[in-house]
Amino acid sequence: MSAVRLGLLGFGVVGGGVVRVLTRNAHEINRRAGRDMEIVCIVARDLKKARASEWPTEKLTTDADRVLKDPSIEVVVELMGGIEPARSYVLAAIEAGKHVVTANKALIALHGNDIFAAARRRGVVVAFEAAVGGGIPIIKAIREGLAGNRIRALAGIINGTSNYILTQMRENGAEFADALREAQALGYAEADPTFDIDGIDAAHKLTILAAIAFGIPLRFESCHVEGIRNLESADIRYAQELGFRVKHLGIARRTAAGIELRAHPVLIPHKRLIANVDGVMNAVLVEGDAVGSTLFYGPGAGAEPTASAVVADIIDVVRTLTTDPQLRVPHLAFQPDALSEGPLLAMAEVETACYLRAEALDRPGVLADITRILADLGISIEAIQQRPPVGSSARVDVILLIHKIREAQVNQAIERIAALDSIVGPIRRLRVEMFD
Ligand code: HSE
Repeated sequence: MSAVRLGLLGFGVVGGGVVRVLTRNAHEINRRAGRDMEIVCIVARDLKKARASEWPTEKLTTDADRVLKDPSIEVVVELMGGIEPARSYVLAAIEAGKHVVTANKALIALHGNDIFAAARRRGVVVAFEAAVGGGIPIIKAIREGLAGNRIRALAGIINGTSNYILTQMRENGAEFADALREAQALGYAEADPTFDIDGIDAAHKLTILAAIAFGIPLRFESCHVEGIRNLESADIRYAQELGFRVKHLGIARRTAAGIELRAHPVLIPHKRLIANVDGVMNAVLVEGDAVGSTLFYGPGAGAEPTASAVVADIIDVVRTLTTDPQLRVPHLAFQPDALSEGPLLAMAEVETACYLRAEALDRPGVLADITRILADLGISIEAIQQRPPVGSSARVDVILLIHKIREAQVNQAIERIAALDSIVGPIRRLRVEMFD
């Protein structure tokens, strides 16, 4: 049988990794897929940089039409990232009857519903394992391995850059900006690193995970998003003293009132496995009614770990080339006409325990004022601590752990505490997840 012809759109960090893995492991890969594969064309943004690779010059181009309009190319691998032109190229490839493999989480989270509809109409596959968790096969695990379960919740460290920064800040006392620079130099960060540090990248990935876990359409706009930009080393230190680690998590949970969908920093008891996932590593905890708790762990970013997922998708697509389109694994795990629009919970309705930190003037009555506000709102305190002023400062840090309560009530408490004369600066809030 002739080799399956592949076209690559994008030749950056991940594109280079995919070419290396496909070339190095060609023999194993072909034994698994049952067909040989040939990369016939690579579309690169910067030809000068691309030519510095060992790839034959005649196969490099800046013209996407050489892939999209070549009828002999059956599989298009999109590794450009970003929305445009990636979205137009993917739709053009689908319209041309080509299968697509993509690592583009933003594209799938924001436009996946339309892309999958187009793919169904044309009877082609759009595979996106590399969009979440780098090298961890989490999409396949939830979509296929756990398909017998009713998924109750999932929680993941799904942005390697944020996890790298938080780890550096905790272990080495690194400044936020220095740790971010290192993550960028190592090729982990997005082209626009605000996506990493503001939680947007994690929210893209969470949107995808929630869809395949719960059988809901991709609803990025309903995700509550906070990043790590405003975290201070004091909070990381205090959390540690209280027996917690600070992690950035994407959380999706079924509750009686609706589905929670939120990405934000969280305090986790330091003994939990997921609290010990450090550096650029990712981990996704999935709780199914039959299987119980499972934790998937591995490198969440980087050239070859991501290539590992991309190449697995290419193999999957090649294996299904002759399968009846109706019998393929559905893009979002559930049959398209069985997706539910089930209510997503507004953040104000979500219940969590919280860590709060207020910077206060060191004078009588401050603690009494704060505890009165909490009592008036029916908020129960688990622990309260006051840290002595540093040097000659007349200010103290007041740290509170409060029991699980509706977010709307915590918001009111924060507003009232911040309005006290004795409080200086913003109140810091980190939600707590016990995972017990
Ligand atoms: N910027 C992403 C991260 C890369 O740091 O996790 C992998 O999606």
